[in-house]
Amino acid sequence: MKEFKMFINPADRRSRISPEIYGHFSEHLGRCIYGGIYVGEDSDIPNVRGIRSDIVEAFREIRVPVLRWPGGCFADEYHWKDGIGPKKDRKKLVNTNWGGVTEDNSFGTHEFLDLCEQVGCEPYIAGNLGSGTVEELSQWVEYMTFDGVSPMADLRRENGRDKPWRVKYLGVGNENWGCGGNMCPQFYANEYKRYQSFCHNFSGNELFKVACGPSGGDYNWTETLMNSLKPQHVQAISLHYYTIPHDWEHKGSAVHFTEEDYYETLAKTLPIDEVITRHCEIMNRQDPEKQIALFVDEWGCWYDVEEGTNPGFLYQQNTMRDAIVAALYLNIFNMHSDRVRMANIAQVVNVLQAVILTDGEKLVKTPTFHVFDLFKEHQGAELIYSHLENVMMEESALPMLSYSTSEKDGRILTTVANCSLKEEAKLLLSVADRPVKAASARILTGEVHAHNDFDHAEDVVIRTLPVELAEGRICVTLPPCSVAEIMTD
Ligand code: AHR
Repeated sequence: MKEFKMFINPADRRSRISPEIYGHFSEHLGRCIYGGIYVGEDSDIPNVRGIRSDIVEAFREIRVPVLRWPGGCFADEYHWKDGIGPKKDRKKLVNTNWGGVTEDNSFGTHEFLDLCEQVGCEPYIAGNLGSGTVEELSQWVEYMTFDGVSPMADLRRENGRDKPWRVKYLGVGNENWGCGGNMCPQFYANEYKRYQSFCHNFSGNELFKVACGPSGGDYNWTETLMNSLKPQHVQAISLHYYTIPHDWEHKGSAVHFTEEDYYETLAKTLPIDEVITRHCEIMNRQDPEKQIALFVDEWGCWYDVEEGTNPGFLYQQNTMRDAIVAALYLNIFNMHSDRVRMANIAQVVNVLQAVILTDGEKLVKTPTFHVFDLFKEHQGAELIYSHLENVMMEESALPMLSYSTSEKDGRILTTVANCSLKEEAKLLLSVADRPVKAASARILTGEVHAHNDFDHAEDVVIRTLPVELAEGRICVTLPPCSVAEIMTD
C-alpha cells in the first residue's frame, strides 16, 4: 500500500467550477435520440410527450446541467425546419453520417427543448454552418427566442408554443475542419463572423456564441481563430478530444482488453491536460482577461462497436476503465476551470462513452454515470488548492492518483481516482487552519473489466467508503481501480 498526504488550503481559491463542465452531448446517431431518449407518445415505455421518464429521472439524478444537440456531424447537415410542425408531415431523410438509416424528424426543436425543460438543464444548440445558410440559422434563433410578432415567432405559435424558450448556448458550426465542411481555419473564421452577425439577441435572451475550435492539438486552428475573432463576436471556442486506444482502425473492444490496453487508454487520456494548457496559452495572448471560454464539447473513450451492432451506431459497453478515464478528464477540467467552462461527454445515451444504456424498456447506469454522480457537488463550487506528492505506478510510468478539490457552502469535496490495478492507496487529507471534525466518503470500485448490463444492472454501484478521523485529518483507503468522493461536513 502506498501512502499519500494531501494538503488542502481553502484560503487559496482558484476559479469557479462552472456546472456546465458536467455537461452532456446528444446526437441523432444510432440509438441516442430514438429509442434512448425519445420513444414517441404511443410507446408502452413510460414517457411524457414521447420523452422517456426514466431517462429524465436519471439525468436529474446526476444534475445534467446542459445538453448539446443535434450533433455532431449530424448538425452539419441538419435543417431545423424539417423537424417542426405536424409529425406526419415532417420530412423523412437519410442520416448520411450515421448508418444511412431513415431520419423521420419526429424529434426536433420542440421535442429537444421540451426535454431540457423536463430535465431542468440548459439547451446548447449546435447550428449548421457546414451546409446550412446564414438565413436558416438566423431564423432558427428567431423561432426559438423571439417574443414579438414575426414570421418565425408566428410559425412557432402555429406549432403550439406560444412563449419563446430561453436558449443561451449557440454553436456556430461543428468540426468545420472535418465533417462540417473541410475548411481551413481562416476560411472558417470568416464564415463564423458572417453567420454570428445575424444571430440576434431577442426578447431578453442573450446568446452565448461558440465557435468551432480545434481537434486535439491543432494549435494553428486556435491561433487563427484568436487572431480573427473578438470577444464581441465569440464567447467560447470549442475543443474536441477523444481517447482512442491504439489507432482508428483498431481501437479495441470496450470490454475485452488487456492490462496493457488499460494503461495505454490512460496514457492517451492524460495529454488532454497539456493540450488544454497549450490552447489556453494561445488564448491568453489575445484574451488575457479570459473573456472567451474554452468548451471541451466532445470528449470520451471511443472503442470498436459491440459485436453484431451497426458500425454506424457507435454502440459500446462501459467498464471501470471508463470510470477511471472519466475521473481523469473531470479532475483535469476542474483544474482548468478558469478557462474551461463547459465540457460535454460523448455521448449521453447508447453512443460511445455513454452514461446510460437502454434496451427496449430496460435502462442501465454505466460506471461513467456513477462518476458523474460522485463529482456532482463540484458543480458551481470554487476550485481550491490541493496537493499531494504523486508517484508513478510501477506497472506503467503514469501518475497513480488523479484528484481535485473544491469548496461550496463551507463543505470541501475532494474527488480522487486510484488508477493502479495493483496497489491500494492510503490517503491522509489535512485542511489548513481547519481541523476536520466530520467527513463522509463514497466510492466506485471493481475489477477493471466490471460493468453493468441488462441482466446485471448493479454490478458496479457506488458504496459508502469508511472514513477515519484522527488529529483533525481524514484517512481513507482507496482500493486499486477506484474513484472516490470525500466530503467534509
Ligand atoms: O461523437 C461522434 C462524432 O464525433 C460527432 O458527430 C463528431 O462531431 C465527432 O467527430
